[in-house]
Amino acid sequence: MRRTEFISTGMYVPERVVTNDEFTQWMDTSDEWIRTRTGIVERRWVADGETGADMAYVATTRALERAGLQASDLDAIVYCTLSPDYFFPGTGVFLQRKLGLPGVPCLDVRNQCSGFLYGLSVADAWIKSGQYRRVLLVGSEVHSTGMDLTTRGRDLAVLFGDGAGVAILGPTEDGGRGVLSTHIFADGTYAELLFCDAPASARRPRLSHEDLDTARIYPVMNGKEVFKHASTRMPEAVQLALKTSGLTTKDIKMFIPHQANLRIAEMVRRQLDLSEDQIYNNIQKYGNTTAGSIPIALDEVVQAGRLARGDLLVLAAFGSGFTWGSAAIRW
Ligand code: COA
Repeated sequence: MRRTEFISTGMYVPERVVTNDEFTQWMDTSDEWIRTRTGIVERRWVADGETGADMAYVATTRALERAGLQASDLDAIVYCTLSPDYFFPGTGVFLQRKLGLPGVPCLDVRNQCSGFLYGLSVADAWIKSGQYRRVLLVGSEVHSTGMDLTTRGRDLAVLFGDGAGVAILGPTEDGGRGVLSTHIFADGTYAELLFCDAPASARRPRLSHEDLDTARIYPVMNGKEVFKHASTRMPEAVQLALKTSGLTTKDIKMFIPHQANLRIAEMVRRQLDLSEDQIYNNIQKYGNTTAGSIPIALDEVVQAGRLARGDLLVLAAFGSGFTWGSAAIRW
């Protein structure tokens, strides 16, 4: 049976480290508030002119090198982001151009924090069906250019960071290994609870002076609702992944939740009755990098040698949309 395996991974985060203390020069906040509510200690911000595609390119070159592959070995790109470099075209084509791959299809996935899992479900289907052999799956995010750095925007500005993670996926016939399942969900009832109103083709004009003056260009969030849904939907999705493959939480070698908030991750861990060794968190260093968070964490786990062939890896995410999902992978 043909399944999808992770051939290699890569990540890149910008050089600039922004500590919690730095925010106090712009807004009424504190290192203590941010750490205790979120677990975040610092995050990375892009340099002026550095884009999501630039970050994804570096992450991709690292993954290609580790796999001993050339860019020309890639057959398709799935690029997941909520912060595309431009309104259109999608950012996948900018990455494709940097990689020198004219003709290779580029699909942009706009599913926010669940983007990488949505992208994985598509790439997995392509590979299993034989439509494409090697797929580059990208999660790359630039938040720092779109945050309200005043006290008005403090609930969101401190949470997010920039960064990119990628995986190169391909077919395996090695019985039992590879992606065992992906499950993705959405509920648009809650679309405005984590939302960015402008610019938007739903308005004429898409961007107005009023949008700038009223801060409509910045995201808004009902943090408590997001917290509540995230901490129930992620464990549900993990249990579904396990049940689908006849596994239990005891079988999990490594669980990587989307990095939104250390308190959410901790609640999910407890609900699943996982030990601290079974979960990986790095939000302390990078904040929430949205579609980038799972592949960045995965690359750190892989480079640290914490996954051996045959280990069970479980991923779960929740985010704006609302969207959520899980994946189970026999490494
Ligand atoms: N610094 C200081 N105070 C802040 C602040 C900041 N950066 N951001 C918000 N506050 C204030 C608020 O203004 C509010 O003040 P008020 O009570 O005077 O109105 C207060 O802190 C809110 O505190 P509390 O209700 O205890 O916050 P919380 O425990 O709900 O934590 C979040 C807030 C945002 C950290 C939390 O709701 C959360 O993490 N939600 C999920 C977010 C998430 O995961 N988003 C991404 C999903 S993919």
